[in-house]
Amino acid sequence: MESLKKLLLVALIATSAIHLVQAQNQDGFISVDCGLSPNEVSPYIEPFTGLQFTTDSNFIETGKLGRIQASLEPKYRKSQTTLRYFPDGIRNCYNLTVTQGTNYLIRARAIYGNYDGLNIYPKFDLYIGPNFWVTIDLGKYVNGTWEEIIYIPKSNMLDVCLVKTGPSTPLISSLVLRPLANATYITQSGWLKTYVRVYLSDSNDVIRYPDDVYDRIWGSYFEPEWKKISTTLGVNSSSGFLPPLKALMTAASPANASAPLAIPGVLDFPSDKLYLFLHFSEIQVLKANETREFEIFWNKKLVYNAYSPVYLQTKTIRNPSPVTCERGECILEMIKTERSTLPPLLNAVEVFTVVEFPQPETDASDVVAIKNIKAIYGLTRVTWQGDPCVPQQFLWNGLNCNSMETSTPPRITSLDLSSSGLTGSISVVIQNLTHLEKLDLSNNNLTGEVPDFLANMKFLVFINLSKNNLNGSIPKALRDRENKGLKLIVDKNVDNCSSGSCTQKKKFPLLIVALTVSLILVSTVVIDMTNNFQRALGEGGFGVVYHGYLNGSEQVAVKLLSQSSVQGYKEFKAEVELLLRVHHINLVSLVGYCDDRNHLALVYEYMSNGDLKHHLSGRNNGFVLSWSTRLQIAVDAALGLEYLHIGCRPSMVHRDVKSTNILLGEQFTAKMADFGLSRSFQIGDENHISTVVAGTPGYLDPEYYRTSRLAEKSDIYSFGIVLLEMITSQHAIDRTRVKHHITDWVVSLISRGDITRIIDPNLQGNYNSRSVWRALELAMSCANPTSEKRPNMSQVVIDLKECLATENSTRSEKDMSSHSSDLDRSMNFYTDMVPRAR
Ligand SMILES: *[C@@H]1O[C@H](CO)[C@@H](O)[C@H](O)[C@H]1NC(C)=O
Ligand SMILES: *[C@@H]1O[C@H](CO)[C@@H](O)[C@H](O)[C@H]1NC(C)=O
Ligand SMILES: *[C@@H]1O[C@H](CO)[C@@H](O)[C@H](O)[C@H]1NC(C)=O
Ligand SMILES: *[C@@H]1O[C@H](CO)[C@@H](O)[C@H](O)[C@H]1NC(C)=O
Ligand SMILES: *[C@@H]1O[C@H](CO)[C@@H](O)[C@H](O)[C@H]1NC(C)=O
Ligand SMILES: *[C@@H]1O[C@H](CO)[C@@H](O)[C@H](O)[C@H]1NC(C)=O
Ligand SMILES: *[C@@H]1O[C@H](CO)[C@@H](O)[C@H](O)[C@H]1NC(C)=O
Ligand SMILES: *[C@@H]1O[C@H](CO)[C@@H](O)[C@H](O)[C@H]1NC(C)=O
Ligand SMILES: *[C@@H]1O[C@H](CO)[C@@H](O)[C@H](O)[C@H]1NC(C)=O
Ligand SMILES: *[C@@H]1O[C@H](CO)[C@@H](O)[C@H](O)[C@H]1NC(C)=O
Ligand SMILES: *[C@@H]1O[C@H](CO)[C@@H](O)[C@H](O)[C@H]1NC(C)=O
Ligand SMILES: *[C@@H]1O[C@H](CO)[C@@H](O)[C@H](O)[C@H]1NC(C)=O
Repeated sequence: MESLKKLLLVALIATSAIHLVQAQNQDGFISVDCGLSPNEVSPYIEPFTGLQFTTDSNFIETGKLGRIQASLEPKYRKSQTTLRYFPDGIRNCYNLTVTQGTNYLIRARAIYGNYDGLNIYPKFDLYIGPNFWVTIDLGKYVNGTWEEIIYIPKSNMLDVCLVKTGPSTPLISSLVLRPLANATYITQSGWLKTYVRVYLSDSNDVIRYPDDVYDRIWGSYFEPEWKKISTTLGVNSSSGFLPPLKALMTAASPANASAPLAIPGVLDFPSDKLYLFLHFSEIQVLKANETREFEIFWNKKLVYNAYSPVYLQTKTIRNPSPVTCERGECILEMIKTERSTLPPLLNAVEVFTVVEFPQPETDASDVVAIKNIKAIYGLTRVTWQGDPCVPQQFLWNGLNCNSMETSTPPRITSLDLSSSGLTGSISVVIQNLTHLEKLDLSNNNLTGEVPDFLANMKFLVFINLSKNNLNGSIPKALRDRENKGLKLIVDKNVDNCSSGSCTQKKKFPLLIVALTVSLILVSTVVIDMTNNFQRALGEGGFGVVYHGYLNGSEQVAVKLLSQSSVQGYKEFKAEVELLLRVHHINLVSLVGYCDDRNHLALVYEYMSNGDLKHHLSGRNNGFVLSWSTRLQIAVDAALGLEYLHIGCRPSMVHRDVKSTNILLGEQFTAKMADFGLSRSFQIGDENHISTVVAGTPGYLDPEYYRTSRLAEKSDIYSFGIVLLEMITSQHAIDRTRVKHHITDWVVSLISRGDITRIIDPNLQGNYNSRSVWRALELAMSCANPTSEKRPNMSQVVIDLKECLATENSTRSEKDMSSHSSDLDRSMNFYTDMVPRAR
């Protein structure tokens, strides 16, 4: 059969006389003329076959155009005279749009034709997707060769790749795909690579399209000891194989009627597994007393028993499972049965070898997604061709995949497009890489916002978006993912606070309007202040806070920087920058600001009920905040702090949590105020920064005071002090007490067993004792001198909500004594507190 194949190739390359054929239906045909010059018309009809060829430029981005030597051109058809060669990259691929599940005959043709004048015949490999198909050795076929495979694509995309395997440069002349009928040429496993396809005739004609509707190419083959049989009648074809009529109209039969019809063969690769497809049709009119019946043997083994071809009907007989040859030598024999009066016959034969494709292709949706990403960002990376993940040695640069198990399709797990010149926004297509764990888009020119969808990608653990031009804020859901371990790196121009659902975000244009108004307002203030600021509301970190009206109706609080303010312009700007970015229902929001050269002022939303300290002092016309209201205030304030600690990135430490900085609105909803001392800091290896110690005596974390190292836990300490104030209505520091500091005071009462005196007597027992004790316990753990032992703000929120629920459920319990012993035990710990510097 080796000899057969050579004969076939010679026949195929020689040009036949040009005669225009009527183009038949070419539905689904893909005929690509590789390397067609852009100056030539595409598509064009090739005169010899009537096939419509198109340029390959729509199917590949790499490679260079070549043309065989002019002197050789007359020997070849048009589609074979140009070629594309690939001096760059190891693997270069054609991407073709196909129909998933369709059985395709794929044929690649390579003709060297000394296109480069070097006279070196190239040798390289062809791959289908991630799997090796065949080696092309043009040194063996100096006039060119072709290879065929019958393959069913697993998706609507098909990659045919040329892989450089040595010093020579891969090339391709044409690539064609022909859809075949379903259920033909099917194997148990692997795919069929054409070894030989012949019709048995002494004619020299090559049969192909349009005579063969599938554009199979049939050479002729005839042995001297055979006798040719032929007919002029049409042959009916019932199976999907549809061998061409011209091939079926002749047949070979042994000249010696009692001899077998034998085709010997020698294989290039002795261990190859083979499939034979034998096409039969009786084309001789049998007399009444004549019979043609024979058995088919492969290497002396019976393949098919007692077969009688039917007159003018075709049948294709194939070996049901693959066969091999002893030492590569094999023989196909048809031997007549005893009752047969006529010798065997055979019209046409195809022999295929089996290629296994063990490597599954990368998951099709990942492939679509990554190709979309490639298209959207216009990436032209030489390795970004063919299957993205496999084989491993051709992994696309910048990707990583989980391709360990060969039985499951690989998935893309890492995408690194850093420093790739990306522009535009972060594409939503990335979302379709559902198994992505790492995403690096850093050092590009990406604009727009950090998209929400990143939070939905459940496997993501690392995102680097730094060094881009992103703006907006980090979505809340993504922030939540961060708190569960996702590492997100963004630039400082992206807001560090999330836009949570509970925020009251003001738009920038509004702020600018407000700023202008407040500027006028403030200017007026300076000239005639009492008209606009009739009431001083208090003193903040910068200066006096006044009550005022914006646009004549909206109540606002205006904080004017006092001339003597130690903290100057820098702090003012810091507060503005922060407040502009921080939006939470439990944080006092900034309405506008003014920073003209002479006057610095901040305009805040107005909180009608003033600060918490004022209400705890009892100086409020005898009005006493109930225990449940106090708890609700504590919950609100805690939520505001939790947002600063966890909702912002990097975390923000308030640094001045105290009862005068908790402001109360209508219905006593509480908001944290005065971010003047807040300082954002980066969580990570150094989760605290050294800074000048700042804060209010009594609330100042002793550990922070000692070490000057600031962390969120310092706010927790201060919050613990505030909680104690709410429980006791005592001042944080009171020099009229024996124990000046509130914690020492509480601990001394607990250790003396005098605990009922701890709770604010103005409450007159109107509280659930369990709720109060629990709050006291929480306050003391917040005020623990060792920061590690303090809870975080989320735990505080949870605990306070539970206290509130307890208080809500029943307020009748008044026997504190039943719980006091528990509390006593838990409080003993604090009697060992280290002396604090204050
Ligand atoms: C194939 O490549 C062409 C050109 O490079 C490109 O336009 C097309 O989108 C690609 N098709 C697929 C399915 O990737
Ligand atoms: C061939 O099979 C594919 C997939 O099973 C199917 O989509 C297609 O319609 C079939 N074609 C014909 C001609 O039966
Ligand atoms: C190549 O073609 C020439 C004729 O054009 C022929 O003489 C030669 O034998 C062919 N070579 C091979 C290896 O088929
Ligand atoms: C071939 O098929 C056609 C239609 O299917 C039928 O009319 C004709 O008789 C058949 N010919 C033979 C030789 O069976
Ligand atoms: C015809 O074939 C038979 C069986 O192979 C053989 O015995 C016989 O000698 C052959 N006759 C001739 C004339 O070759
Ligand atoms: C078959 O019959 C024909 C006459 O119709 C006769 O000539 C021939 O010898 C017979 N052949 C056989 C094998 O009996
Ligand atoms: C993402 O995948 C979904 C489902 O597979 C598909 O419907 C959608 O078109 C894809 N989106 C993009 C942008 O590729
Ligand atoms: C994030 O990307 C930037 C810019 O490419 C790089 O300098 C930085 O090291 C990256 N960060 C991490 C943690 O990989
Ligand atoms: C961003 O674009 C500018 C101008 O096009 C260019 O100079 C710069 O190198 C780009 N930066 C990155 C990181 O690609
Ligand atoms: C973010 O940048 C885009 C352009 O890159 C701009 O259209 C958009 O308004 C910006 N958004 C914000 C909140 O600054
Ligand atoms: C946001 O965080 C970065 C560090 O990641 C910091 O440099 C930047 O100043 C912060 N921005 C604001 C407004 O706090
Ligand atoms: C407690 O009761 C108040 C009203 O009395 C209600 O607003 C609040 O939601 C309740 N809190 C809890 C945690 O049940």
